[in-house]
Amino acid sequence: MAFAQFEPNYDENKVPKFIVPDPLTSFDGTQIKNTGDWSKIRRPELLAFFENEVYGKVPGNLDDISFKILEENTNALSGTAHIKQVEVTLKKDTESLSFTILMYLPKTTGKIPLFLGLNFYGNHTVTNDENVIVSSAWSMNNEGFGIKDNTATEKSRGVRINRWDISSIIASGMGLATIYYGEIDPDKNDFSDGLHSLFYEAGQEKPKADEWGSIAAWAFGLSRAMDYLVQDSSVGKVIVFGHSRLGKAALWAGAMDDRFAAVISNDSGCGGAALSKRRFGETVGRINESFPHWFCDNFNVYNNNEEALPVDQHQLLALIAPRPLYVASAQEDEWADPKGEFLSAHYTTSVYGLFGKKGIGTTEMPEVNMPIQNTVAYHIRTGIHDVTDYDWEQYIKWAKKFVE
Ligand code: GCU
Repeated sequence: MAFAQFEPNYDENKVPKFIVPDPLTSFDGTQIKNTGDWSKIRRPELLAFFENEVYGKVPGNLDDISFKILEENTNALSGTAHIKQVEVTLKKDTESLSFTILMYLPKTTGKIPLFLGLNFYGNHTVTNDENVIVSSAWSMNNEGFGIKDNTATEKSRGVRINRWDISSIIASGMGLATIYYGEIDPDKNDFSDGLHSLFYEAGQEKPKADEWGSIAAWAFGLSRAMDYLVQDSSVGKVIVFGHSRLGKAALWAGAMDDRFAAVISNDSGCGGAALSKRRFGETVGRINESFPHWFCDNFNVYNNNEEALPVDQHQLLALIAPRPLYVASAQEDEWADPKGEFLSAHYTTSVYGLFGKKGIGTTEMPEVNMPIQNTVAYHIRTGIHDVTDYDWEQYIKWAKKFVE
């Protein structure tokens, strides 16, 4: 069935009636009453479900990981910041893959808390700094950014500065680490390259039905960056952040790897923070048709069949508890279903409550530009699907409460 032929629903009255799966009732009906049962019974079974049926599991272990400082400058951003470019190399059998972490740190002493996030077009697009290496990995063509033949050039330096408010992050005493997602796995329906191919058995050409898609590969890359960050003596708590498809990856990374101190989902939508069962805007069928490589093949079972899902995305979010979680939406980003993102954050509240942490008690969405900032935080801002200085301002303010 071609889902693309279906008009997306943007009418609240046409949202199907459904029961929100209870985070505190296990698949066999056991009521989860305390953090011990959550950690021993419920969390593992939910994690396994998302691993086997949604994002796909990582099929093996690496043989080796190594780090190399490619560049370091203590006088970046007109002398206000310290910059580092670190190459991470992953090895498996005879294969290897490298990606580069770009780090901006304030010039303060002590352990610096930082945001870690993937970027869409290369590290050189988030800054005008000429020392930042132009990625040679496959890039999505973009005429406006001067990217053709899937190859980035000098022309795209700085084109995404607007999405990364580095100066405010630095001024707040926090840092930023970012990685070009295409160096981990090129975003195309082709499993011959990127991380997946490192793990193939002889003759294998694509992941098995319960094995990882690209979102899980990007999340795995974030965790390997974390392997570096935990042993860099200048780095403190790490908050994993992502926008849109990279917000989906940040959520999955945060669920899988509890070394991430907090998680931020910016406009992550379907397969991210938004509830799938609402079928508002993008649906499971649509996303699997347009991006067949993002999830594992098992997820296709739920195409146009969301009612069969024994879970929903609020339970992915709940896997992050008790760590701080921020879900953000944009008013004009109906495709990502802002209300579904909000409700999903709301429905984690019972799980955060087990830990004595404050979620979002109300089912009433806040007004635009009126953030709710508890351990679970949410805002909907005016404007389109994007990352803005307003978003960063909220993330920084919220993060400052728990990073020091
Ligand atoms: C598409 C896709 C979304 C995704 C977005 C993005 O719109 O349908 O699921 O979040 O791209 O990554 O920008």
